[in-house]
Amino acid sequence: MAEAVFDVVVIGAGPGGYIAAIRAAQLGLKVACVDKEARFGGTCLRVGCIPSKALLDASEKFYQAKHGFAGLGITFEGIKLDLGALMAKKEKVVETLTTGVSGLMKKNKIEKIVGTAKFVSVGAGGGKQLEITGADGAKSGVSAKHVIIATGSVPVELPFMKFDGKAIISSDQGIALTKVPESLVVIGGGAIGLELGSVWSRLGSKVTVLEMLPQVVMGSDEEMARGLERVLKKQGLNFYLGAKVTGVKDVGGKKVVTFEWEGKQMSEPAEVVLVAVGRKSYTAGVGLDVVGVKVDERGRVVTDAHFKTNVEGVSAIGDCVAGPMLAHKAEEEGVACAEMIAGKAGHVNYNVIPAVVYTSPELAWVGLTEEQCKAKGVAVNVGKFQFRANARALCMDAAEGFVKVIADAKTDRVLGVHILGVQASSLIGEAAVVMEFAGSAEDIARTCHAHPTLPEALKEAALGVHKRMLNS
Ligand code: NAI
Repeated sequence: MAEAVFDVVVIGAGPGGYIAAIRAAQLGLKVACVDKEARFGGTCLRVGCIPSKALLDASEKFYQAKHGFAGLGITFEGIKLDLGALMAKKEKVVETLTTGVSGLMKKNKIEKIVGTAKFVSVGAGGGKQLEITGADGAKSGVSAKHVIIATGSVPVELPFMKFDGKAIISSDQGIALTKVPESLVVIGGGAIGLELGSVWSRLGSKVTVLEMLPQVVMGSDEEMARGLERVLKKQGLNFYLGAKVTGVKDVGGKKVVTFEWEGKQMSEPAEVVLVAVGRKSYTAGVGLDVVGVKVDERGRVVTDAHFKTNVEGVSAIGDCVAGPMLAHKAEEEGVACAEMIAGKAGHVNYNVIPAVVYTSPELAWVGLTEEQCKAKGVAVNVGKFQFRANARALCMDAAEGFVKVIADAKTDRVLGVHILGVQASSLIGEAAVVMEFAGSAEDIARTCHAHPTLPEALKEAALGVHKRMLNS
């Protein structure tokens, strides 16, 4: 079979893969990007970040119209939900963005290939031969000097609760329900569980979250997680923390989830059960074994600090390798990996990767938590500022939450910033820039922030590190 020859073939067109392809093309390399889905954009654009945010934004407006605007003196009558229209809007956003990615492939002269890529052999000069199988089963071949594996991740299934796509679902279906379930049990209090739990709760479901650990959003600062749990409870979500899910039964056409909690045998009926207990690296069908690419005990492709696998000319990035499964982490790795392949000095600063849970209010953070500082034995000063003392948040009638700045006690360098509050996802950007520049709490405190704005809460929390807040 006649083979097209590329400098770089990227397998996977998610935020890691398509960004790596663009950066490599910008640097003058001949690039192809292969994905088995014709809609380029990966999990993030098709069934992850983007559709879930479209639902979060729409459901938040619905909830506010019903419960939130009265506080501002605005009332509505006859508010109705048109779930079909809401889903159609979500689809339109997905369509716009995935079409946009295909447009970017064209603009950057990247060969877009739709099909499943599989390693078949290594050529004499070390080049990799890949076989591409199209949706119709047709086979073609490509050859590449470098291959970047960016095949992403898939939802984890519980062995005793297999997905059926209808009553026991993953986030893939959780973003596409055609009816608001009367009751929804969410297993897992991580980002997916809380975001989709919020969506369906706002639209009218009775939502119960069963989380194995003693706190929601594992990995976030404990005080912030408690704050988020408190607000979500007020919004009507029900939580069982430290719950050990034991099984699921069919009772009268409904699912009943059984679990142990505080030494008691419990059960919770649900029209739909959303299993959101994490995601796992996905490399099925890539033929890693054909060329001998190593994976770890969790199926993640093993890479060194330069994204290189153990096989010369094969790199891997994003959700299929170790590290947080975040679109923006994958993007940074894609850029750095492409730069390294092109002989440049790419770099990812893993200490400054923001994380966001898009609930209302949002929880966002960057850097270390107080618990992590303690575990490392780093002495810190902490400043906290409540949004109820921030003028703009009060005007917006969105005064829930607070900002926490953690700074090194000796050097004042900012080690972590945690925000529970309205627009936290945007506010965390300033903190990330400060940390990227190795800035101090005093740097934030001495920076003039426009008034009245939400970022003033960050400035005040930074002042709080030195016990000199002005508005609290
Ligand atoms: P996660 O790993 O963030 O949270 C899963 C939760 O399920 C954990 O708290 C875990 O303790 C709990 N759990 C595990 N087994 C359980 C069991 N048998 N019973 C009860 N609880 C159990 O995973 P999640 O939320 O599914 O998200 C998957 C990945 O996608 C994560 O890496 C996440 O960071 C990423 N993601 C990020 C988003 C964001 O940045 N906003 C949004 C959605 C996903």
